[in-house]
Amino acid sequence: MNPRILAVAAAAALCLGLTTTALAQNPVDGLPDEPGKELILRSCTMCHSAAQIVYKPRAPEDWTDLIGRMVDRGAALTPEEQDAVYAYLVKNFGAKPAVAAEGAAKGSSSR
Ligand code: HEC
Repeated sequence: MNPRILAVAAAAALCLGLTTTALAQNPVDGLPDEPGKELILRSCTMCHSAAQIVYKPRAPEDWTDLIGRMVDRGAALTPEEQDAVYAYLVKNFGAKPAVAAEGAAKGSSSR
């Protein structure tokens, strides 16, 4: 292979790699500007990126569990701040409650 083409290909590959890494690590990525966001940037992105937090929607009870787990790990949030983070995540990255909870909700609404 022509060494020049090889060099260009290597440079392109490097560029791509750098871009992807930069995007994945940008803590601002994917977080709507709403109350609670600054708490997440402050207390949740010191160990991992925001992208790792919001890569999938979660049911409200899953967010409760998760915030508890992260606080156990060392996320510095007062109980009020935990509520604010929870409200933010449920509003912006909430999923339907788990199947069991959904069944229970249906059962109670048909009564
Ligand atoms: C002290 C370090 C630390 C802090 C602070 C922290 N996390 Fe984490 N987080 C981790 C580690 C380590 C993992 C991977 C292991 C795990 O899933 O428990 C993780 C995983 C996650 C995951 C993926 C879990 C999964 O099962 O898919 C989410 C979502 C998450 N953190 C959200 C948060 C939120 C929200 C906050 C702020 C309230 C936060 N984290 C603060 C260390 C931290």
